[in-house]
Amino acid sequence: MSSPAKGRVLSGMRPTGRLHLGHYHGVLKNWVKLQERYDCFFFVADWHALTTHYEDPRIIPQSVWEIVVDWLAVGIDPESAVLFIQSRVPAHAELHLLLSMLTPLGWLTRVPSFKDQQEKLRDRDLTTYGFLGYPLLQSADILIYRANLVPVGEDQVAHVELTREIARRFNHLYGRAPDFEAQAEADKKKMGKKLARRFDALRRAYREQGDRQALQEAQTLVEHQGNLNAEARERLLGYLEGSGQTLLPEPQPLLTRAAKMPGLDGQKMSKSYGNTIALREEPARIEQALRTMPTDPARVRRRDPGNPDRCPVYQLHQVYSSEETRTWVREGCTSAGIGCLDCKQPVIESVLAELNPIQERIRELEAQPEQIKAWIAAGCEAARKTAEETLKMVRQALSLEYGEF
Ligand code: TRP
Ligand code: SF4
Repeated sequence: MSSPAKGRVLSGMRPTGRLHLGHYHGVLKNWVKLQERYDCFFFVADWHALTTHYEDPRIIPQSVWEIVVDWLAVGIDPESAVLFIQSRVPAHAELHLLLSMLTPLGWLTRVPSFKDQQEKLRDRDLTTYGFLGYPLLQSADILIYRANLVPVGEDQVAHVELTREIARRFNHLYGRAPDFEAQAEADKKKMGKKLARRFDALRRAYREQGDRQALQEAQTLVEHQGNLNAEARERLLGYLEGSGQTLLPEPQPLLTRAAKMPGLDGQKMSKSYGNTIALREEPARIEQALRTMPTDPARVRRRDPGNPDRCPVYQLHQVYSSEETRTWVREGCTSAGIGCLDCKQPVIESVLAELNPIQERIRELEAQPEQIKAWIAAGCEAARKTAEETLKMVRQALSLEYGEF
């Protein structure tokens, strides 16, 4: 039971509404790329949706369905990524419970989103046990698949950091099997005399002098031992740092470099600002929304010159338009040579051209619901299988594997 050689990616989305262009540019295009390079797990976090929507959860079923269809429509491939629904893999809940036993309360109350969200979403009651546990449930989501990389936005980095701390604490508490040292020594010998001696020297340099470079070299050395199986390699990596076996690997956040997708008002596109264009929005309404979106407030009349740097439309040109078009905008705007509707036209065309094939694919997919259900059922099945393996190890570590009753 180990992470695959090419690295495992895991990420999730909460089903609390429709996906919009912000999701597409900021997240989904990245997922489509990642699925080619990594072993990817993508899931709909319906339990996480309940932490904020427990009073009226009726938005969940429709959102789950639309999200799944939208993922497929933008090119997430169920043959190469595992697509599933959180609540269909109950192992997440058991791991969440078990991890809660060793999670200090202060680690959760200090997560910035705990207070931030309570302040931001004042109309919701977020003083619940479930909301406090939100980032720990997320940790369970990640750790149960032994994921190495978690593509997330800036706002979620603290949750990945908490996950790393939980993994470290877990490994520290339970990673010391009684025969761990003896086994690691035996693994080491399998590398051959020369490399084993090198390993010892590097391990000593790190443990006695804190030499980080030695640690890195030793890690690389172990990772390249083709004749050791994954379990032995993990044991040796744990032995290097002296922390015992790496039962749960520490994940890294994978920050998307995509520029922030501007919304209809120039702020980041986000449902909470009410400035979104949904992937499923009707073309006529998209056109309408773009035609009426605000421009440089200084440009009141057609003959007033404007400043693109103060205009949300120009931000959309930066996402959608060529250098040439942007120059046309700059010149036309600052000289009052073009009107704002002229200026918006290329953006309208680009957005419609981008969404047209996606919406067509959505229609095709929705005509074959059985196929979609089969893909997701297979994804849930594959997820359960992987999750169960980790859970078995965790139960073992917590002395809960004591035979049949
Ligand atoms: N909290 C994430 C968000 O709001 C969703 C999420 C739940 C998630 N579990 C996860 C993301 C695990 C990455 C990994 O966007
Ligand atoms: Fe904005 Fe374009 Fe109008 Fe200038 S011409 S204010 S950039 S919409």
